Amino acid sequence: MAVTEKPVALTRAVSPLLGSCELTHLGRTKIDLELAAEQHSDYEKALEKMGYVIRRIPETPHLPDGVFVEDTAVVFPEIAIITRPGAESRRPETETMAEVLTEYRKLEFIQSPGTLDGGDVLTLGKEVYVGLSTRTNKQAIKQFAEFLKPFGYNVTAVPVTKCLHLKTAIAVIEDDLLLINPEWLHPATFPDHHCEPVHPEEPYGTNLLRKNHWALCSSAFPHTIDWLNARGYSVLDIDQSEMAKAEAGLTCCSVLLDLV
Ligand code: GLY
Repeated sequence: MAVTEKPVALTRAVSPLLGSCELTHLGRTKIDLELAAEQHSDYEKALEKMGYVIRRIPETPHLPDGVFVEDTAVVFPEIAIITRPGAESRRPETETMAEVLTEYRKLEFIQSPGTLDGGDVLTLGKEVYVGLSTRTNKQAIKQFAEFLKPFGYNVTAVPVTKCLHLKTAIAVIEDDLLLINPEWLHPATFPDHHCEPVHPEEPYGTNLLRKNHWALCSSAFPHTIDWLNARGYSVLDIDQSEMAKAEAGLTCCSVLLDLV
C-alpha cells in the first residue's frame, strides 16, 4: 500500500461530453466546456491550498459524468468500497478508480443488484448514513454495512427523495455541527448533532467542503459564505456554475484520502 505524507485528492479531467451528463432534478442547460475545465482547475488549486496533493486519475473522455469521481468510491481508513453507480451510463467510471485506489487501500466492490453512488454516503465517525435514493438501493446498503461491520461502523439508511444525493442536502461542519437543507432532509435524522438550516435562498449551499480552518464553498452562495466567515473559517469561494448545471456540487469532484 502506498504511504502518503500528505492527504491526496483524486480527481479526473472534465469529459468533452459533460453536456450529455445524467440529470435527475434539473432541466438541461448548455454547459460551457472550456469554462467547466477552468473551474475544475480552480477547484483543484483550492484543494491544494487546503493541503491536498492532487492526483488526476486516468481520463474517461467517453463518459460524460466521469469528472464526478466521488460517486465511484467511498474511502475509509481501513478499506475503500468501489461503488456500482445507480445510473447505468456511469458504471464504467469505477474501473479506473479501482485501479488507482488499490494502491492505497484494500478494496471491496458493490455487486449487482446493488447500486450505490458515493454522493449518498455521509460519515460521522463510526456512524455512516447512506441515502436511499434514485441512485442507491437497499441491496447495496446491506452490502456496504457488511463490508464495514468488522471495523465497528454502524450503517443507517436515510430516504432521499427531493434531491439527487444525501450529500446534496447536508455538510459536516464540525464533529457536532451539520449544515442541512431541512426541506430535503429532516434534522431529526441526526438527533445527536446540531443541525443548522442552510439559508432558504441557497438550497444547494450545503454542498461544501470543510477541512481544518478551511471551508471551500461555491461563490453562488453568499449567505452561506457569510455564515462560514462568521464562524471563523478561511473561506475559499470558487465559481462552479458549469458543474452546478450538471447537478453536481463541490464534494462530487474529488475522492479525498485524508491521513490515517
Ligand atoms: N450529473 C451528475 C449525476 O447525475 O450523476
